[in-house]
Amino acid sequence: MRIDIITVVPGLLDGPFAHSILKRAEEKGLAEVRVHNLREYSTSRQKQVDDYAFGGGAGMVMMIEPIARCIQALQSEREYDEVIYLTPDGETFDQSMANELSLKGNMIMLCGHYKGVDERVRQRFITREISIGDFVLSGGELAAAVLTDAIIRLIPGVLNDETSALTDSFQDGLLAPPVYTRPAAYDGMEVPEILLSGHQAKIDDWRFEQSVRRTKERRPDLMEGKDF
Ligand code: ADE
Repeated sequence: MRIDIITVVPGLLDGPFAHSILKRAEEKGLAEVRVHNLREYSTSRQKQVDDYAFGGGAGMVMMIEPIARCIQALQSEREYDEVIYLTPDGETFDQSMANELSLKGNMIMLCGHYKGVDERVRQRFITREISIGDFVLSGGELAAAVLTDAIIRLIPGVLNDETSALTDSFQDGLLAPPVYTRPAAYDGMEVPEILLSGHQAKIDDWRFEQSVRRTKERRPDLMEGKDF
């Protein structure tokens, strides 16, 4: 899978993909992330990519032409399954969307800035509009990084232990159970005995009960339609 991110602030995306799981995914040839500076697709001398809104009002609007040139240049090189626009008025991102997108081929992610993009960009080029939550970021870059991380770690072969993504919070619709490691006792705080018992079936039952308990306490909305 290749993810091409289009932004006016490429520097914001310098860090996140060079580390840890995302770096390993690139090294294994399972995912590739490329960041494109939208200004390079502007034909004006000042590298302009935004302009005043027709009809007036505060804030600039990102122009269609540089965005069109950038998307078309990418699409002339390879096929893309989705052209995603990161925007607070999009569909809210969640784990099931991450699962679905992890099965796709290549994707373009367009990061909005200022007052957003000219509506015609959305009409002509965008296949999917996604928000990472009900709050407003300064631009779509951090949202694109969030999506990229959540999606790439789900690509088969990216995580060392294939089962570890399966036991993530939300993967079965429940929050994850508590986890412990050495030491077995810390300052009077003991690890639950069951986890030291070696009895795997009982440990699995305990973890499931803890997941249900935690979900009921913290996210009762996730329990709707579940009968345990
Ligand atoms: N751009 C600004 N805020 C955003 C959000 N919450 N999600 C996605 N893109 C955004």
